Amino acid sequence: MSGAVEIAKGIHLVGVKDPGLTLFDDLFPTAFGTTYNAFLVRGATHTALIDTVKGKRFEELMDNIRSVIDPSQIDYIVVNHSEPDHSGSLAKLVKACPQATVVSSQAARTFLGNQIHAPFESKIVKDQDTLDLGGRTLRFIAAPFLHWPDTMFTVVEGEGVLFSCDAFGSHYAGEGAFADEMPDFSGETRFYYDCIMRPFKDRILQAVEKLDGIELTLVCPSHGPVYRKEVRKPIELYRKWSVPKAGGKRIAIFYLSPHGNTESMAEAVARGASLPGVVVTQCHINHASVADIRDLMEESDALIFGTPTINRDIPKPMWDVLAYLSTVSLKGNIGGIFGSYGWSGEACRMAEDRLKGMNFKLPHPFVRTPFMPKPEVMAECEALGRAIAEEVLKK
Ligand code: FEO
Repeated sequence: MSGAVEIAKGIHLVGVKDPGLTLFDDLFPTAFGTTYNAFLVRGATHTALIDTVKGKRFEELMDNIRSVIDPSQIDYIVVNHSEPDHSGSLAKLVKACPQATVVSSQAARTFLGNQIHAPFESKIVKDQDTLDLGGRTLRFIAAPFLHWPDTMFTVVEGEGVLFSCDAFGSHYAGEGAFADEMPDFSGETRFYYDCIMRPFKDRILQAVEKLDGIELTLVCPSHGPVYRKEVRKPIELYRKWSVPKAGGKRIAIFYLSPHGNTESMAEAVARGASLPGVVVTQCHINHASVADIRDLMEESDALIFGTPTINRDIPKPMWDVLAYLSTVSLKGNIGGIFGSYGWSGEACRMAEDRLKGMNFKLPHPFVRTPFMPKPEVMAECEALGRAIAEEVLKK
């Protein structure tokens, strides 16, 4: 990389770029690589390093720090979040800077204890605590679950410099340091939000509200470009993407139906669920995009899954939909299951285990039938839909 970049007087970006990365955390595609941002903040008497970088990039971090100061002058290492892409160099760094105190939330300290099996100086800070660097003060803002329980923001008080950790980041390793120097990367910002932040919408709204009274001049996420113009833009986008949609009670029925039998059951469930004041949406999962399915999950007060059994299992497209449950901010945790099968019928039980594992309340036992549903099975499906609608209307 890269080298240090002074982003404000006495504040240097000393992180590293990883433009060749194609898959982040073994999970999320990164078409434009990423960066692991770390920042040196110098006061008159003390110096703080905000975050570190992935362990394999430690030497580059040290080179960048050395280009600004002797690393032995670092007094504090602020860990805004202890995921190894930011704390992975910490074990080596505390050896290189034995006088430095690691500053973090209590949760991060606990997690670090399970990552660094050696003693180090530690200071726990809470929401709104401050740290004096001599003519410059850091303020810590708790932002739990953005996206780990340990997360906090750090602000240079009175200067409006926000180190926001993963929040407002993008996996984007462009030329330069600032967002306004680069081509439009807004698609990467949204994809990053969808992959990493989306399950925590209520926490995002709480954290964003804490920033409302602060006049910001720089927004410095841990990944991707630093914002020095339109600094509120990524924050307001997070607010917009996280505000729940208004509207009445909604029930979504997701189903897959190789021979039309589970679809017939879905129609019966929908009839039963269509009580006054309830909007029911039937969604054949192979005819909807992933984005539409995830949006529908978030908008609905109850989710009902109709799954056939293929080879003694839930078919993969439905497993995928069940997996999305942990990638969204669920509005409700009321659920139901139904499905047609040929001769063994394990899928409904498996889906039930998944929903119970996600703390869903199931007001009616699952309804399953071999092959084509008889009238009494259709009546059971209607009863299932009705029971769920009644539960939704109680809330
Ligand atoms: Fe970029 Fe949650 O680590």
